[in-house]
Amino acid sequence: MDARTQKPARQVVELEVDGETIEATIAPHRLLVDVLRDACGRTSVKEGCESASCGACTVLVDDVPRLACITPAADVIGSKIRTAESLRSSDGRLHALQEAFIHHHAVQCGFCTPGMLMAGLALLEENSRPTEQEVRDAIAGNLCRCTGYVRIVRAILAAAQTLGARPERRLPEMAS
Ligand code: FES
Ligand code: FES
Repeated sequence: MDARTQKPARQVVELEVDGETIEATIAPHRLLVDVLRDACGRTSVKEGCESASCGACTVLVDDVPRLACITPAADVIGSKIRTAESLRSSDGRLHALQEAFIHHHAVQCGFCTPGMLMAGLALLEENSRPTEQEVRDAIAGNLCRCTGYVRIVRAILAAAQTLGARPERRLPEMAS
């Protein structure tokens, strides 16, 4: 076969996703968002802009938020990947962040929500007592076309309270 028409070699890799080791056959330069959705069944990882502009595809790689739409899957072999599917406990209980998003009506169409949850999780794991501004900074790369952000910020602050941080915090006033 002519070298110009040869398909790039695929490789079998093992990815650690949500604590599970998953074997996947991937082509070079295959993007993490596609591998997570198609080979790993993590459909919480959303493809929005596909160009690093909306944050819908945010996952944690070794505890750091990464945009799966611009991350080659081959770059995260050996890393610990977490998606929103990891938030629910094995007995079906929702994470405090998920509960807070529901309670504070921080979800409308829900398309941005998995990315928001992962950005919020990364923040709370690093900073258990974030200020409102720190929450806003943490989700600055995550676009939401529905909620106006106030309820999302409130939910992340509320989750911080639930997780034991700063129980005296006052939540921001509800937007009208
Ligand atoms: S789909 Fe990745 S940033 Fe929009
Ligand atoms: S809830 Fe619809 S984009 Fe955020």
